[in-house]
Amino acid sequence: MGNSARLQQLKVVFSLAPAQLQQIADRFQADMSAGLAGEPSSLKMLPSYLAKPTGNEQGHFLALDFGGTNVRVQLIDLSGDGQWVVRRKIAAPLADPAGLYDYTTAATVASGLFDFLAGQIAAVVDDHGDYRLGHTFSFPCRQHGLNQAVLLHWTKEIKTTGVEGQEINALLAAALLRRGLSRVKPCAILNDTVGTLLTAAYGDLSADIGSICGTGHNTCYFEPTLKIVINMESGNFAALPVTKYDQQLDADSEKPGTQQLEKMVAGRYLGELVRLIAVDYLPLTLPPGSVSAEDLAAIIGDIPVKGPLARLTAAESEMLQEIAGLVTARSARLVAATFLGVLSRIDPVLESPHTIAVDGSLYEKMPGYAGMLAAALVEVLGDKAAKVTIKLSKDGSGIGAAIAAAVAGPTAG
Ligand code: BGC
Repeated sequence: MGNSARLQQLKVVFSLAPAQLQQIADRFQADMSAGLAGEPSSLKMLPSYLAKPTGNEQGHFLALDFGGTNVRVQLIDLSGDGQWVVRRKIAAPLADPAGLYDYTTAATVASGLFDFLAGQIAAVVDDHGDYRLGHTFSFPCRQHGLNQAVLLHWTKEIKTTGVEGQEINALLAAALLRRGLSRVKPCAILNDTVGTLLTAAYGDLSADIGSICGTGHNTCYFEPTLKIVINMESGNFAALPVTKYDQQLDADSEKPGTQQLEKMVAGRYLGELVRLIAVDYLPLTLPPGSVSAEDLAAIIGDIPVKGPLARLTAAESEMLQEIAGLVTARSARLVAATFLGVLSRIDPVLESPHTIAVDGSLYEKMPGYAGMLAAALVEVLGDKAAKVTIKLSKDGSGIGAAIAAAVAGPTAG
C-alpha cells in the first residue's frame, strides 16, 4: 500500500464521527455515575470539599501552583466583587533546562522537592506578617478535608520518591518550618481543574465545568446532587478506541495501563504520538521524546522547526503536518466528547447556560485547538450548543488557590 493510501487509513482511524463522539460521551457519563456510586469505574470522582464560590470572598493570599512542569508562587488580592489583583508572581521550572537540577526524577526525595517549593515561597513573602496559602497540586489526591490531600499516585511521568501516599500539605508545612517560614500557613489544597473552575465561577454563575488541556489533562465539575466540585481525574478514562500507536506509547510510559485518555490528548504525549506515527511513515530516525507539543504547534502553524524534522522534503513535511493535524484534532474531539458526557449528566436537555472554563498551553496555544473543541460540541448538540460557552480561564489554577484559601477562612487547619 502506498503512503497516501496508508494516510487515508490513518485519517479514518483518527477522525471521530459525531456518532462516535456521542458514544464516548455516553460511556463517560456511565463511568461518572459508577464512580459516584462507588462502583468500578475508570473515573476516580474525587470530592474537593469545595462548593462554588460566591464571588464575595476577599483578602490577601499566597497561591502555590504545582503543576508538574513549573512551580508558580503568587501573592493575590481578592477584591470580593469577582475581581482580583496579582501583587507579586514568580515561576521556576521543576527541571532546569540547563540540567542543573531536576526535582521530578526518582533520585529526588520528597524533602528535596518540598524544600525547593519552600525556597520559591521565601522569594515572594515579606519579612513580616502572616500568610494564608492555597496550594494547587495537580495530581490525583484523596482528600479528607479542604487542607488534607493524600497523593494517590504521580501522573505526567513524574517519579519523585516518597511523595505517593503522603499528605501533601503536611510535607509542605514541614518544609516551610525547616525554612523558618512558620508564618506561612497552608490552609487549602485543590486540583488545578478545581482552581480553574473556581476562578471562572468567582465572576460567572454559569461556570460549572473546569478543565485543563495542557501538559496533562483532567476535568472537574460541580455536582448538583452533592453541592461540591468533583475532580473526576478524567485523564484515566479508559473506554476509548485506541490505535497501535496509543498502545505502543502506553507500553513505553512510566505507568502502562493508566491514564488512557490523557495519553491520547495531553501535551506531554501528543508529540510522542506524532513521532511514533511519523517514523512508521517517513524515512526518519527520531529518538523517543524528541518531538514536543511545541514542535507540533510549529508544524501545524507553518513555522519552521529545528532538528531532524527540518531536514524533510516538502512532500514529507506536508505529510508530517497532516499527521500532527490528525493527532491534535482527535485530542480536541475526545476532550469535547467528555464535556458532552458531563453536560448530559448535569443538564440532560440543556435547559440552563453552562460555562466550561479551560486552562492550559494546549488549549491556549495549539493553533485551531479551541475552535475544534467548540466545533465538536456544535456537531453533536446542534443549536443547543449555544447554551454552552467554552472559555479560557488564564492562570485559573493559581487564582483558584487564593479563592480556596479564602473559603477555608482564618481558622482552617
Ligand atoms: C493529573 C490531574 C491534573 C491534570 C492536569 C493529570 O495528569 O492526574 O490531577 O488535573 O494532569 O494538570
